[in-house]
Amino acid sequence: MPDDRIGALYVAERTLARARSRGAGEVVRLAGARLKEAAGSGDTLVVCSLAAEIEPSAGESFLFRSATSNDGDLYARDVGTDSRRSFRARLSPTTSCFVVESKGRLLHATWVTTSGAWTRELQSYIRPPHGDAYVFESFTRPDARGKGVYPFALRKIASHAAGRGLGNLWVAVEAGNPSSLRAVSKAGFRPVFRLEYRRRWGRLTVQIPAPGEPGRDGLRIERT
Ligand SMILES: CC(C)(COP(=O)(O)OP(=O)(O)OC[C@H]1O[C@@H](n2cnc3c(N)ncnc32)[C@H](O)[C@@H]1OP(=O)(O)O)[C@@H](O)C(=O)NCCC(=O)NCCS
Repeated sequence: MPDDRIGALYVAERTLARARSRGAGEVVRLAGARLKEAAGSGDTLVVCSLAAEIEPSAGESFLFRSATSNDGDLYARDVGTDSRRSFRARLSPTTSCFVVESKGRLLHATWVTTSGAWTRELQSYIRPPHGDAYVFESFTRPDARGKGVYPFALRKIASHAAGRGLGNLWVAVEAGNPSSLRAVSKAGFRPVFRLEYRRRWGRLTVQIPAPGEPGRDGLRIERT
């Protein structure tokens, strides 16, 4: 099947998985937000980084693990941003999904890539520097929020990354997302630079740091 038809199939499957897991209300809200966004939108991403270090495990109340292609049904049920098939298709040698599990349920999922992540808002790939990794699309189930699950996952991801010889972890958080900013700072991430973007009728402008400014050698924003 051609790539664009496979892509369209995955979009349909992901929408259905989201409706099943999070309810039709969220899908309708999301569709409205996307429509508004197409006409004109913009935001500031706070780009933060953390030096990866190995941390020994100690008295943990949650199970952290790297997801496998067998976790598609669990992911579709508990996280809901992918169908089993689209979840599997996203896993690759350079892109992993890490989950926090309790009593057979996924409380949290976070994706990590060493190559790049397609970022719809920017209509571009966000790519980490060579030897680093980029953390994206983190989600804690609403009934598990505020219990430190995301910072716990980030610390474990950093330890796992250090074990693989990676240098830094990067994350880009919307400036208007205080819960996420708080969680990444609790995990030890520090802000490096702010990335501003605007979209008007499909035309995108991204303001990246100038040569010599902090963050210039951080994440790359690339159309392909
Ligand atoms: C951002 C998010 C992943 C944080 O996960 P988490 O496991 O709740 O992280 P924490 O427990 O460290 O909570 C972080 C902060 O959220 C706030 N918070 C606490 N309870 C909350 C609740 N029930 N609902 C929302 N936010 C809450 C608090 O400010 C908390 O910090 P504090 O406990 O030190 O005061 C989660 O809120 C989420 O999934 N949000 C929707 C998706 C999203 O925004 N993802 C991140 C961008 S990719």
